[in-house]
Amino acid sequence: MRDAITSVHTGVPVRAATRADVPAILEIYNHAVIHTTASYDLEPVSLESRLDWYDHKVQDGWPVLVSVNGDDVTGWATFGSFREKPGYRYTAEHSVYVRHDCRGEGVGQALMAAVIAEARTRGLHTLIGGVDADNAGSLAFHEGLGFTRVAHFRQVGHKFGRWLDLVFLQLDLGQPTPQQ
Ligand SMILES: CC(C)(COP(=O)(O)OP(=O)(O)OC[C@H]1O[C@@H](n2cnc3c(N)ncnc32)[C@H](O)[C@@H]1OP(=O)(O)O)[C@@H](O)C(=O)NCCC(=O)NCCS
Repeated sequence: MRDAITSVHTGVPVRAATRADVPAILEIYNHAVIHTTASYDLEPVSLESRLDWYDHKVQDGWPVLVSVNGDDVTGWATFGSFREKPGYRYTAEHSVYVRHDCRGEGVGQALMAAVIAEARTRGLHTLIGGVDADNAGSLAFHEGLGFTRVAHFRQVGHKFGRWLDLVFLQLDLGQPTPQQ
């Protein structure tokens, strides 16, 4: 993972996250957990568990990226296994979260440009995003990046006293077919 990538699209700096960024990543994530159905976590996550999550990501060789404005972390993104069996090795599932007061300024686009570039560098074939069906902003965001809706799972989640539908969106990364 390169140390710093600057998005060609929006000029927002994106770099590999360090362990010191985890509290800011946690704050952004927990805001979404508490206020939205972007995550199907029901309770805020502890710093200890997010540090553990970060350590496992690094240990398993998956990228964790942050967008920054000076010293401030404005968003983060990652990807990892879509499913565990080795036949899925050319597919990854990503997550992207922008700080609530920094949305609509091109930060998400910069993070996803870095995610997509990194996925291509790793020879991945396709990226999957799982988005709550009521999250119109994220659905529009992903479709704007070229993702297409490929699945709509009905009532697979439950949060805030109601059933939640989950949409999978997929991006073809345009890689050649591997030999094995
Ligand atoms: C979805 C999310 C990542 C988008 O990031 P962002 O920084 O706000 O988006 P950007 O400013 O980069 O927007 C890029 C494009 O996406 C589309 N878009 C983004 N937010 C949108 C919204 N709320 N409604 C409609 N379109 C939207 C627009 O086409 C926009 O381009 P434009 O500004 O030229 O019109 C961000 O809103 C977020 O973190 N939401 C909460 C968490 C979440 O839902 N994560 C995704 C699930 S993994």
